[in-house]
Amino acid sequence: MTSVYKSVPIRSSEITPKDTYLSRRDFMKAASLATGAALLAACAPSVANESQDARPVPTSGATDELGNPVNTYEDITHYNNYYEFTVDKQEVAGLAKGFTTSPWTVEVGGLVNNAQTFGVEDLLKLFPQEERIYRLRCVEAWSMVIPWTGFSLASLLKMVEPTSDAKYVRFETVYRPDEMPGQKSPFYPWPYQEGLRLDEAMNELAILATGLYGEPNVAQNGAPIRLVVPWKYGFKSIKSIVKIELVAEEPDTLWKDIAPNEYGFYANVNPAVDHPRWSQASERRIGELSRRPTLPFNGYGEQVAALYDGMDLRVNY
Ligand code: MTE
Repeated sequence: MTSVYKSVPIRSSEITPKDTYLSRRDFMKAASLATGAALLAACAPSVANESQDARPVPTSGATDELGNPVNTYEDITHYNNYYEFTVDKQEVAGLAKGFTTSPWTVEVGGLVNNAQTFGVEDLLKLFPQEERIYRLRCVEAWSMVIPWTGFSLASLLKMVEPTSDAKYVRFETVYRPDEMPGQKSPFYPWPYQEGLRLDEAMNELAILATGLYGEPNVAQNGAPIRLVVPWKYGFKSIKSIVKIELVAEEPDTLWKDIAPNEYGFYANVNPAVDHPRWSQASERRIGELSRRPTLPFNGYGEQVAALYDGMDLRVNY
């Protein structure tokens, strides 16, 4: 199949079985060597300092279009940022167990001609699910390679017919403090919200992910449905979406609200613009021992750089 994407769509059957990878415990031993001192980040507590008994991590199996192996299912589902549950990445999976992901509806409205509320099961029927192997680069300077299943955000937006006044898309996570203990914290302006410019949202790389590793999404990764925007820092990829709204003005976003000098609306992966408290020039790929250089637009420049022609990305960070 020919594709304009750099990211390789793959069949489930080609995804390396989970059990051929090292266990998370073994991996964490290896990873701890590379992390060294705790990483201080706005949306990071500290990285666990575990045993120094490092072992090589096998690299066979599916890769992204640059040849990077996908991370293990264990890593992807047990090293998570999901502040609605906890700020401790390794505790999210446990706390998210039992989170109700069905029934679930997504309201799509605002400046559109055809506002609709979709059950997730409708979305699965309406839009063919594709597999996309994408790099995820967290603003905290770690990264993973994740085999998602999902469908293009553009296909959903076209169905609701944005009016000519719609210039941005706003996304909102479910607000359910009884099930999400982190939402009882007064330090964050819940619910989590994010946004994209409409032309960014229409780019074919932006997907709504419903699964990973060929299986339905699990709660800690944003089940049942979350955004994935691979050329932007991970915080733009909002989880467990209940509302998508077409709007005229740039919407507020959670991290920009909290610290506008550290987190911008655009948040394109950019090794040339450091976070005020750390460098963005390199990253730690989970499962690797040494750091690797961070690529502009996370390696997706060919597909997305034109969206920002004429913009100063140092100002619009
Ligand atoms: N979405 C919500 N609702 N809450 C969050 O705390 N964290 C973001 C993003 N989406 C977050 C969120 C951050 S900082 C990152 S790096 C990614 O989710 C992590 O996605 P993953 O846990 O599936 O790897």
